[in-house]
Parts: sequence; structure tokens; C-alpha cells
Amino acid sequence: MRGAARALRAAAAPARPRAMIQDQSRSHPTGAPWRNFYGRIHGKALKPNQRRWLEEDLPRLSPGPVAWDENPKRLPLDPEAVFGGRPVWLEVGFGGGEHMVHQAASNPEVGIIGAEPFVNGVAMALGKVRKAGVGNVRIHAGDVRDLLDVLPEASIARAFVLYPDPWPKARHHRRRFVTPEHLDPLARVMAPGADLRIATDIPDYVRQTLEEVPRHGFDWLAEGPRDWRAPWDDWLPTRYERKALREGRRPHYLTFRRVRPSQPA
Ligand SMILES: C[S@@+](CC[C@H](N)C(=O)[O-])C[C@H]1O[C@@H](n2cnc3c(N)ncnc32)[C@H](O)[C@@H]1O
Repeated sequence: MRGAARALRAAAAPARPRAMIQDQSRSHPTGAPWRNFYGRIHGKALKPNQRRWLEEDLPRLSPGPVAWDENPKRLPLDPEAVFGGRPVWLEVGFGGGEHMVHQAASNPEVGIIGAEPFVNGVAMALGKVRKAGVGNVRIHAGDVRDLLDVLPEASIARAFVLYPDPWPKARHHRRRFVTPEHLDPLARVMAPGADLRIATDIPDYVRQTLEEVPRHGFDWLAEGPRDWRAPWDDWLPTRYERKALREGRRPHYLTFRRVRPSQPA
């Protein structure tokens, strides 16, 4: 099933509990490994124009075959060809897409691939892509781990992980993005010298990020508090950040550079 059809099916499906536990010893008929995904895939009913954007625009904005049923041999994508040789950036969990579309509009000389499994967010982002008239965005409406499987090594020149799900309870910390399950494949696809930007409003998430990310071959670039307290010069606040600020939480902006191979686990 193609990305658009999958996204529409997710939009029509009955609500599921937020946390799902799957049996790791099994695999899908397509050969895909069972990967625990604990987030939301769909929210409230989509508006008719959002359904139309999913049907009309999502197939056109595909970065290539990512899902296991479309690409069971896990053949690598060719992002350079997709973007005509431009450097490629990646945004993980783009939410409503405001930052991704802002970066695409401000940087026409790059191509940006975004991954987001929450279909309502994908639909919002498609509306923004239309409105901004940008041609340098591609969208994977699904789990970024499936995308990382098929991105070539060292193909990403910059990556953004903006307000990843916080999972505040200690027993849920292993679900966080800043764990080897995500950082190993992310490090593989990032080019030497590429920057990784992570924003979070959760102090314990900062702790785990500063502990884990350097193990995967990244240096933290901060020299003083301003570097993590002030946003990046080209920043656009995301929906999640605006909510965090309204609720009195403080953003942290962490910049890393890929400088060496990952440490063996
Ligand atoms: C707290 S929200 C932040 C959204 C957006 N970046 C912002 O700042 O408004 C975290 C986002 O990460 C997405 N996400 C969670 N797990 C993901 C995964 N495995 N692959 C891609 N996105 C994921 C969620 O669906 C959600 O939209």
C-alpha cells in the first residue's frame, strides 16, 4: 500500500490506545521487523481539503519507496537524484510542518525530507507546502526508522529533531528518540561534519541527550549558556514550543556535529 493510501487508512481507523506493545520475536508478512511505536497515528477527523491534499500531494512528495511493502529488499533511496544534487536535510517528527516548510522556503538550495507518522500533522504540513509553494520538500508519512533503513550512508547534511516526545516517566525513557535504536541509524546516514539540532523543553531529556548523542560520534558545539538558551538564528518556533512556553517550560537548543564514527555498544 502506498504512503497516501496508508495515511488515509490511518485517518479512517478507529482510535487506538496511545501505547502499543508488540511481540519483538515476530515479523510482518512483508518481512518488516516489529518496531514498537508508542505515539499517535491519527487524531480528530480530517477536513475534506486535508483528505484531498493527502490523496493528491502525498504521492507526488514521496522521497521514494520507504515502506516495507513498497521496498521489501530495502533498496537505498537516491536523495541526490530526488533533489537534483542539492544537499539533503532531514526533519524527524515535523508535527504540523511549520519549521520544515520555513526551512525549505528559506533554503531553496537544499532539499528537505520530513518524517511524521501522525496523519493529522502530515495533512497540516501538506497545506503549508501548498501555501508556501515550495518544491524542495519530500514527506515520509510514517516512522523515521523505516526511512533511516533506506537512506544511503552519509547522505544527510543536517538533521532536526525538534521537541521529540518527552516520555517523562523513568520507565519510559527507553522510548525516547535519543536511544541507540534511533541514534545508530541516524548517525549512519549523517555525513561527516553534518549538524544535528535537537530542541527540548524537558531538563531530563537534555541530560539523556548530552549523555547519549556523543556516544554516536557527535560533538556538542556549545561554548556557553547562550548557545543552548537562545534559538538558532534561522529558527521558527514550532507548535510544541509555543505550547511549552505558554505552560512556563524553557526551551533548550542543542547543536551537535558528526565528527567521528559511533562507539561500539
Ligand atoms: C512532541 S511532538 C513535536 C512535533 C514538532 N516537532 C513540534 O515541535 O511541534 C513529537 C513528534 O514526533 C513524532 N514522532 C514520534 N515518533 C516518531 C518516529 N518514530 N518517527 C517520526 N516521527 C515521530 C510524533 O508523531 C510527534 O509529531
